[in-house]
Amino acid sequence: MQTLHIIHLEDPEAPSALALPQLPPSVQVLTAPDMAAFHSLLQHHQPVGVISPAALWGHDAATLLGGLPGVAGFVLVSDTSKAAQAHQWLDAGALDVIGPQDSTRLRVALHHLRSIIEKARADALLSRRARLVDVVQQLSMTRSLADVMAIVRRAARELSGADGATFVLRDREQCYYADEDAISPLWKGQRFSIRECISGVAMLTRAPVIIEDIYEDPRVPHAAYAVTFVRSLLMVPIRAESPIGAIGTYWAIERHATPEDVELMQALANATALTIENVGFQKDLERRVIERTEDLARTNQELEAFSSSVSHDLRNRLNAILGFSSLLDMQVSPKLDAAQQDYIHTIRDCASQMKHTISDLMTLARAGRQEVDMELIDVSELARQSVADLRKGTALPDAEVLIEPGLTAYGDPGLLRLALDNLLSNAFKYSSKQSRPRVVVGAQSSAPDDQLQLFIQDNGAGFDPRHASRLFQPFVRLHEETDFPGTGLGLTIVRRAIERLGGTIAAESQPGIGTTFHVTLPCQRGVTLDTADTATTLL
Ligand SMILES: Nc1ncnc2c1ncn2[C@@H]1O[C@H](COP(=O)(O)OP(=O)(O)OP(=O)(O)O)[C@@H](O)[C@H]1O
Ligand SMILES: [Mg+2]
Repeated sequence: MQTLHIIHLEDPEAPSALALPQLPPSVQVLTAPDMAAFHSLLQHHQPVGVISPAALWGHDAATLLGGLPGVAGFVLVSDTSKAAQAHQWLDAGALDVIGPQDSTRLRVALHHLRSIIEKARADALLSRRARLVDVVQQLSMTRSLADVMAIVRRAARELSGADGATFVLRDREQCYYADEDAISPLWKGQRFSIRECISGVAMLTRAPVIIEDIYEDPRVPHAAYAVTFVRSLLMVPIRAESPIGAIGTYWAIERHATPEDVELMQALANATALTIENVGFQKDLERRVIERTEDLARTNQELEAFSSSVSHDLRNRLNAILGFSSLLDMQVSPKLDAAQQDYIHTIRDCASQMKHTISDLMTLARAGRQEVDMELIDVSELARQSVADLRKGTALPDAEVLIEPGLTAYGDPGLLRLALDNLLSNAFKYSSKQSRPRVVVGAQSSAPDDQLQLFIQDNGAGFDPRHASRLFQPFVRLHEETDFPGTGLGLTIVRRAIERLGGTIAAESQPGIGTTFHVTLPCQRGVTLDTADTATTLL
C-alpha cells in the first residue's frame, strides 16, 4: 500500500503542544519547522494533508493553506474558545479546528484527512488516465515519427508532472536523444553508448528505471547530468520485449516515482511502440502503393504507345490493302477467271474484318481508360438515340422497337451509350432472321430505389444458355460468321463499360425464342428527370 503523507507544521517559537496519536504504518507524519521545509516536503509528497497551529510563523495559517496546490485538506490546532474565530477558519477551508489536548477529536480529524488524501490521489490518477486515453487517440492518428515524438514528449511531462522529458531512440549500440521537452536543455541531438546512460539501462534490462537521487546512483553518468537540472528520474523502455527506445522523465528535486507514475509512463511507452510500428507499416504500405501506381502508370503508358502505334500502322496498311485490292478488282477483274476474282474478294473481306477488329480493340481499350463523368442520365432517350443512329448507319431489320419511358440511371452517358449501342446492335442482328423481329428496352419495377434494373430483350436466334457467362470474354462467338458476322468483341466492350459505371450485366437466352440482357445500374434515390414521356414509345 502506498504511504500517505501528513505534514505537521510546527512553530518552534510557539509550540502547539499537540500530542499526535499512534498512526498506521501507511500514514507518515512529517514535521516542518519552517516555510522552506514545508515547501520542500510539498514538492516531494503530493497530495498531502496538513495539521497546523492556527497562528503559524506569524501568519494566519488558514489564509496560508487555503487553496494551496498539493494540500488536499488541513486541520487547525487552537485552544481558542471563540466560536466566531473557529467559524472564520472553517470558512477559509479548514476541515476542523481542534484543541491540542483533544485526542479523540484529533483522531477523527486525522482519519478525515487520510480519506481526503486518498480521494485526491484517486481523482488525480483518474484525470491522468483520461489524459492518457486522449494521448493514445492522438497517437493513433499520427503518420510520422516527428509527430509521435512531439506528442509523447509533451504527454510524458503532463502525465508525470515532471520538469522534463526525453524521447530516446536506440541506434544499434547507441542511445540517440532524439527529442525533449524540459525547463532547461537536456541532451537533445546527443548520442551515448547504450552501456553508459540510463536509457541504455532501461533498454538492456527491458524494465523501468527509477532513480530518486542521481548523485547517489553509480549507474548515472554524472558528468552528463551535472550540467542539467535533473535530480531524480524515471526511464521506461519503448517496446519492453525488444526495446527500440525509451521515454525519460526528470525532476529537479529528489523524488521517488510512484507506482502510478511507472504504470502511466509504461502505458504511454507501449502506445508509442504500437504507433511507431504502425507508422512504419503505414509508410511501407504507402511506399508500396506509390511503387505499384508508378508501375501501372508506366505499363499503361507503354500499352497506350503500343496500341496507338499498332492501330495507326495497321490501319494505314489495311487501308492500302483495301484500296489496292479494290483497284485490282475494278481494273483487272474482267481479265481474271472466277477463282482469281474470288481470291481478290477474300483479300478484301479479310482486310475489312481486320479493320473492324482493330477498331473494336481500340474501343475496348478506350472504354477501360476514359474518364468517368457520373451524371443523371435519361436512359430511355439514350436508347432512342442509339436506335436512330444504328438505323442510319446499317441496314437494320424492320424490327418493332419498344422503349419504356422515364428510365433514369446515374452514370457516364458516353460509356452507357457505348454499352447500349452494342447490346441493341446485337438484338437487331440476332433477330434479323425472324419474320417479326421485336426489341424491347425496359426496367424491372421491383428494383430497389437506388438501382435501375434494365433489360434489353429480343426475339431472335438466342443461344445455348450454358454459355451465357462466356459471352463476355473477348472473341467468344456462339454463331457462325456466315450466319451472323461479327468480331466477338462487342459484349466484352459492354461488360467493361458497365463495370466502370458500377453496374453488372448478365445474359439469359433460349435458342429460337430470344435473348434478354440484364443490366443493373446505380440510380439516385428519388430523383426523376423532367421528361415529356408518358407512354411507351414505339419507334
Ligand atoms: N442478342 C443476342 N442473341 C443471340 N446471341 C447473341 C446475342 N448477343 C450476343 N450473342 C452471342 O454472343 C456472341 C458475342 O457477342 P458480341 O457482341 O461480343 O460479338 P459479336 O456480336 O459476334 O461481334 P461484334 O464484336 O461485332 O459485336 C455473339 O457472337 C453471339 O453468338
Ligand atoms: Mg455484337
